[in-house]
Amino acid sequence: MTGWLITNAFLHTHKFTEINLWLVAAAKKAGIDLTIKTNAEVLVRLDSKNTLAYKTDETDKPDFILFWDKDIRLAEYLELKGIPVFNSSRSIAICDDKSLTHLYLQRAGIKMPKTILAPMTYSNIGYTNTEFLEQVIAELSFPMVVKECFGSFGQQVYLVQNHMELEEKVKVIQPKPMLFQEFIEASKGKDVRLQVVGNQVVASMYRYSGNDDFRANITNGGKMKPYEPTKEQTDLAVECCKILGLDFAGVDILFGEKEEPIVCEVNSNAHFKNIYDCTGVNAADFIMEHILKELGNIIEVKDKEID
Ligand SMILES: Nc1ncnc2c1ncn2[C@@H]1O[C@H](COP(=O)(O)OP(=O)(O)O)[C@@H](O)[C@H]1O
Ligand SMILES: [Mg+2]
Repeated sequence: MTGWLITNAFLHTHKFTEINLWLVAAAKKAGIDLTIKTNAEVLVRLDSKNTLAYKTDETDKPDFILFWDKDIRLAEYLELKGIPVFNSSRSIAICDDKSLTHLYLQRAGIKMPKTILAPMTYSNIGYTNTEFLEQVIAELSFPMVVKECFGSFGQQVYLVQNHMELEEKVKVIQPKPMLFQEFIEASKGKDVRLQVVGNQVVASMYRYSGNDDFRANITNGGKMKPYEPTKEQTDLAVECCKILGLDFAGVDILFGEKEEPIVCEVNSNAHFKNIYDCTGVNAADFIMEHILKELGNIIEVKDKEID
């Protein structure tokens, strides 16, 4: 069994290379020959030749692709070439954009913080007026969470206390897409991260900032503890993955006033090093097991079609 692990050519931090090596090691254990290829090696080649990638012929075509990046055009291209891609380009695209995640989950009845999407503007124009903020304030009041639609590690998530802070933040973020969100006070500085693989929660941890910061992200200085999720939290995390078509993901869940779970976001390419350090569970092993199972299913379906 051969696979390609697609990574981003321009992300070189230890955090990312470490995860890549873990995935390759877990694949080896599972009997899979997983080769790392970057999105700068496997270019989207829109020519008449049926080449998959530079200096690659049909026989080099992998059995599957583990897509550990957000280059969704490349992911879709590989799918169109008929290769199974985990996670799918569509799932990655929806998770990458927090506003799309909200749209799809809320439509399916998943409880999330009340959210308003900022109107889209053009990069050479920005917001020529911010009157729409009146509606946002009337609906959500302060303190209010402002999030860039594309961001991670808590770095593009902000808490604003009043109209002036909101205006300032919007001016700094524009013209990038952003959303406004109800602040879940009961969850200030704490949440839970559930790692889901193949519709099962394989590990979970409680994260807390340990200081005044409302964000619980570990990369942002937060702390972690192993956590036994409630059935409600487990079912919710699995349900989100089903709705978004994810093979694996890290689901962030907030605590409501009565401890009821409220979905914060879903990460299609969740870093699983922290959850390993916290729980000893290596999500990479579960991911390989899941892929083998899925490919078994795909092969079975194909065999049936031929019969
Ligand atoms: N609406 C909210 N109310 C309270 N806390 C929030 C809210 N949204 C986010 N947070 C906190 O901020 C953290 C980062 O937000 P999140 O949407 O997960 O962005 P990121 O992709 O950067 O992790 C969350 O883990 C949570 O601790
Ligand atoms: Mg998060």
